[in-house]
Formats: sequence, C-alpha cells, structure tokens
Amino acid sequence: MLMHKVTTLNQFIVERQAEIPGATGEFSRLLHHVGIAAKKVHREVNKAGLVDILGRVGTINVQGENQQKLDLFADTIFMDELRASGECCGVATEENQDIVVFDEGLCRDGKYIVCMDPLDGSSNIDANVSVGTIFSIYRRRSEVGSPPVVEDFLQAGTEQLAAGYVIYGSSTMLVYTSGRGVNGFTLDISIGEFCLSHPDVQTPPNGRIYSINEGNYVNFPVGVKKYIKYCQEIDAAGGRPYTSRYIGSLVADYHRNMLHGGIFLYPETNAHPVGKLRLIYECNPMAFIAEQSGGVAIDGERRVLELAPESLHQRVPFYIGSREMVMKLTEFLRFFNNI
Ligand code: AHG
Ligand code: MN
Ligand code: MN
Repeated sequence: MLMHKVTTLNQFIVERQAEIPGATGEFSRLLHHVGIAAKKVHREVNKAGLVDILGRVGTINVQGENQQKLDLFADTIFMDELRASGECCGVATEENQDIVVFDEGLCRDGKYIVCMDPLDGSSNIDANVSVGTIFSIYRRRSEVGSPPVVEDFLQAGTEQLAAGYVIYGSSTMLVYTSGRGVNGFTLDISIGEFCLSHPDVQTPPNGRIYSINEGNYVNFPVGVKKYIKYCQEIDAAGGRPYTSRYIGSLVADYHRNMLHGGIFLYPETNAHPVGKLRLIYECNPMAFIAEQSGGVAIDGERRVLELAPESLHQRVPFYIGSREMVMKLTEFLRFFNNI
C-alpha cells in the first residue's frame, strides 16, 4: 500500500529552525527532547490503570495541593529529558518551590530555560479524563556559563521563544508555537512519532462554547456573572444560548475551544482570590498559543503576555479564547467594574 507522506515533529522543527531569530540546532535539540519526554509521559498515562501509579503520594506541593503520583513522574521525566538535551540550564515547574539549576556538563552552557506544568489537570487522572503538559521556553538573561537566576524565569510572556502543550487525550497531541503560527502533531503510536496533523491552526474568531467552573458562581466578579447570563439568555432575535463545556484540565478545555471556538474563564474566587492559574507555566504559554492562532488572552484588564511576573508561582485571573468572545467579556468586565 502506498504510504502518504507525513511530516514528523523532528523534521518540522529542523525545517522551521531558520525562521526563529537567532535559533540554532541547539534550540531544535531542546524541542526534540520535549517531544521525547511527551512520549514517555504518554506511555505512563496510558498504563496508569494497569500499575500502581495512581493516587496520591501523600505529599502536598508548594501550593498546598495534593501531588498525584503522575505529577511527580511527569516532573521527573521532563526534567531528565531537558537535562539530557544539554541545552537547558534550568527549569521552573509547578512541583518545585524554587528554580532547579542544571549545572552539570553541557547544561552549564545551555542558553535556554524552561517553565513547565508537567501534568495539568491531575485531579482528573484517576477518572481516565484528559490531562496535559504545558511548557514555555525562554532565552536566559544571565551570563552563559554561570548558574541561572530566578530573574531568568520572571520574563514577560512576550519574551517566549516557544511554548506549547501536550494533551494526553483520546489521542496524544503536541501543539506548539515558536512565534510563526501554531502547529499540532498527533502521536502515531504505530511508528512512535508525532506527525503533523493540524498545520497552521487558526482559532475561530467567534464561538459558542463557554468553559468555567460554575460551582464558584456566587463568588465571581459581577462582570463575569453578567457575561455568563449573556451566554445563557435568549436575545430579542431568538438567538444565543451557548454551550457549557468544562473538563477541569486547562489544556483539554483550551484545546477543544481553540479548535471549535469558545472562551475559557478562571476568575478570582473565594478560594483563589487572585485567580487559580499560574502565570509563568500555565497562562503565558497558553496565551502565546492563543495569540498565535488568532485568539486573545487577558487577566481581565491587560494582555497576559505583557504582565511582569513577580514570583515563580504567581497566579492571575485568566480569560482566553476566541477574539470576539473575549472582547464581549471585556465589555462586561469594564462596565460592571466601574459601578
Ligand atoms: P494542575 O492539575 O496543574 O494543578 O492544574 C489544574 C488547573 C487547570 O488545569 C484547570 O483548568 C483548573 O485547575 C481547574 O480548577 P477547578 O478544579 O477549580 O475548576
Ligand atoms: Mn495546571
Ligand atoms: Mn500540574
């Protein structure tokens, strides 16, 4: 049978290398290792029901949340691969209070740092629901050869060289941008390669899906409450009721909305008075992907990518999705915050 020509992630990365300002083979090597780590996590996620890797390890992470075993697994796998690439001099991840410095061998001279949520949506793992990995790559600011410092990790999202996510869903996909559009690769397990399946993803400018944890409704800002009602109420022309879809895995909720058109909202709540999602390893990478596919990401007032991070685990309110939906939400937020 005639085989169709497929473009693998590695081929694609090498072909695109020339388009990234100042990029070299080093950067491609780093992305290549992200792909390897993603395959290893895919393997573990897919056998999670078979072996004793489910459930909580009994510790809590730096933000007081239960760490699931797979959280730690994914953290270790990605860190090991990034270290093995020799191009990354340090990482900041959800599972580590401080930056982790790679100061052995080649890593010491690595030009890049990575911010990462190794396993996103981990409360869903033991129910066989989609989870993800989020990553973001920056060029270090400190001198090459010296250990990286926390300031290297607190750069604005506009400085990202590349960002992406892996979704471990009904199939596993790696979606990334290096600032020249968004491309999605589906893991073909028969050949063990990510293959280009979603070239140049464009998110619909408008949509009909809203994604929010409505259990927190009573604590939402008034503008968010009014926007939700706007989605739910029939207008004079008989149109409107939107569809509510919420998985509880940012990666999976965003991915669906990016393809079909929609908005994801995580506002301030009682439990999370400044928002729940973390700026440097959840919001910024997703915001970069959103903008590169034609969407928008704001914290309620400002463009997420322009926020100046103050700390590694900083949280912000987060609204992301189709341009016209985020613009409509903005009208509600402005109007109701001023009364
Ligand atoms: P993580 O599993 O990395 O801690 O992230 C969970 C996040 C995000 O994936 C999701 O959108 C959100 O938490 C869900 O929060 P609620 O359970 O409060 O809705
Ligand atoms: Mn997360
Ligand atoms: Mn996580």
